[in-house]
Amino acid sequence: MATLRHAYLAGVGHYVPSRVVTNAELEPMLNTSDAWIQERTGIRERRWFAEGTDTTANMGANAARKALEMAGLEPNDVQLIVFATLSPDYFFPGSGVLLQRELGMTNNCPALDVRNQCSGFIYGLSVADQFVRTGMYDTVLVVGSEIHSSGLDKTPEGRGVSVIFGDGAGAVVLRPSTTEGQGILSTHLHAQGEYAEELIVKEPSSNRDNRNQRMMEKKEDLYPYMNGQNVFKHAVVRFPQVIKEALDQNGYQSTDVDMLIPHQANLRITQYVQQKMGLTDDKVFSNIQRYGNTTAASVPIALSEAVQEGKIKRGDLVCLAAFGSGFTWASALIKW
Ligand code: UT7
Repeated sequence: MATLRHAYLAGVGHYVPSRVVTNAELEPMLNTSDAWIQERTGIRERRWFAEGTDTTANMGANAARKALEMAGLEPNDVQLIVFATLSPDYFFPGSGVLLQRELGMTNNCPALDVRNQCSGFIYGLSVADQFVRTGMYDTVLVVGSEIHSSGLDKTPEGRGVSVIFGDGAGAVVLRPSTTEGQGILSTHLHAQGEYAEELIVKEPSSNRDNRNQRMMEKKEDLYPYMNGQNVFKHAVVRFPQVIKEALDQNGYQSTDVDMLIPHQANLRITQYVQQKMGLTDDKVFSNIQRYGNTTAASVPIALSEAVQEGKIKRGDLVCLAAFGSGFTWASALIKW
């Protein structure tokens, strides 16, 4: 067996659609208010895709190009694509192959699709990390990309969910680290299927015979359902738990963290986690105010912005953490 080695993040990038949708724009559509949305979630605006311009795969490709450019690599250098999304372009095939085509890749590299919702990017990062560690691949592209806006209930009935989600994409490129101590130190993945229906889009369901006809009978099941209070209750427990797990495994305290990049689920959840960990404002990154919750894309978008803004430097201890539908939750500890 090849010697285990560390993977480091050689490049990061993100892309968001150009259309900004403010809370004010949602007020008449959803019978909501800017004050309610900001008070409960911290969100001020989000991006919605443009049909004909943005697709889940090409938004991922736009983010990937930036990550590859930062890494000084070409698309054909990628040896494995890991694509995380809950809003794929097609029921099948997965969006990974579409991203490969979109990037003009001709090397027939494998494309793996990951379906773990808000935790999808960290799940994907963990998969990629294993391949680099074992030496099977040197260059792995991990993408999180989502188009929520085309599937939201844009009537007052959907307001509890539709104000939260936004569209966007983020990507990272993993390479074997050549600097001692640098790279992904560990990843931690969890799931608890007993809560699968607490945050869900039920249709189209393959266990319903004639599903294509029958999904129209249950139109409400085509929209996301969320038991918001229960999701919130679990999130504030699982985030600190999975972060502590990562810190403990590597012999760190919470105050050693230079930058926490939490999945952007709700600013109140992030503030709770920050307080619980005793972190100052400059050590926790939030951009949910501008993008809402972009599920699998939220961690790489936030990471990319934090790097772009110079908030993460080589040698920093960076922690990624996520919680969401499944329930699933995950963390990654990285020496940048
Ligand atoms: O990505 C990971 C998964 N997602 C999360 O982590 C989300 C976790 N949950 C949450 O963030 C919160 O539960 C929400 C922000 C989604 C909702 O906040 P909440 O405080 O749990 O609100 P609620 O659903 O209990 O509703 C409270 C009230 C209700 O009115 P009444 O019954 O008290 O009169 C709702 O009808 O707020 C009403 N409401 C709204 N009002 C205006 C619900 N949504 C809206 C809205 N605008 N958009």
